[in-house]
Amino acid sequence: MSDILRPDSRELRDGLYRLYREFFSQAERNRRWSLEDDIPWDQVNPHISPAIADVVESFCAVELYLPDYISKALPLIRTNKGWSWFHANWGYEESKHSLALGDWLLRSKVRSDEQMADMEQQVFTHEYELPQDNAVGMLIYAMVQELATFVHYRNLRHKVDEEGDPCLSRLLGLIAVDERAHHAFYRRVVQLFLELDRKETLEQLKRVLLTFSMPAVHLLADSRRRVAEVRELGIFSEEIFFTDVYQPVLAALGVDHRELRGPKGGRKSTVEGEAG
Ligand SMILES: [Fe+2]
Ligand SMILES: [Fe+2]
Repeated sequence: MSDILRPDSRELRDGLYRLYREFFSQAERNRRWSLEDDIPWDQVNPHISPAIADVVESFCAVELYLPDYISKALPLIRTNKGWSWFHANWGYEESKHSLALGDWLLRSKVRSDEQMADMEQQVFTHEYELPQDNAVGMLIYAMVQELATFVHYRNLRHKVDEEGDPCLSRLLGLIAVDERAHHAFYRRVVQLFLELDRKETLEQLKRVLLTFSMPAVHLLADSRRRVAEVRELGIFSEEIFFTDVYQPVLAALGVDHRELRGPKGGRKSTVEGEAG
């Protein structure tokens, strides 16, 4: 990794701090929401289809790995104030997402207290490991993952609206806006990486895009069934990844996909299919 892309370089400390202050003031002004006041809990639909309830449970479980997402990333970035402060704020927002999803599972009565306790227990028997071995690679991974997560929530919300659950719909809408804001922050940072060292950033971007999979899903019990349900409902698939994540990310960064071609090429994803 070049010196300029080290988390403690002057350029990255100044740049990340500036971007974090912009992100934070915008979040405080326009995006904060309350679990108690902003979600119509009296409008849950207890008859929602089991497939949707299962997907909400899967998303909730993925959000439950928060202690690993935070504790494993912070040591990589602790010398960079803007970067680590962002991560702390990100952790607060993600913790709210898992509370909201868990509360919906209980209030709609699609899951019992015992089932929720079992799921939490299962989550903590496995540890999530970071998919990239350096801070720049992790930030690029996070940029892609946040957009993919936004797409998951947006598409699930469309499914929910076909059946009707104003509570879940509102909650998914609020979460989707947060995920999009996380993606936008990371994208600005990646633009800064590209300005500072385009060659190294493209190398890391290529590694991330060619091996991308969603975090922690493989750690969950019944992970194959969970991935299949998400695909069958049309919420996410290799094709959706390509059109709604891969292509928009490259377009927004001004990167031609031919710049990412390596000697071997081709995506090595956990989901079958061709991603160009
Ligand atoms: Fe989230
Ligand atoms: Fe997020």
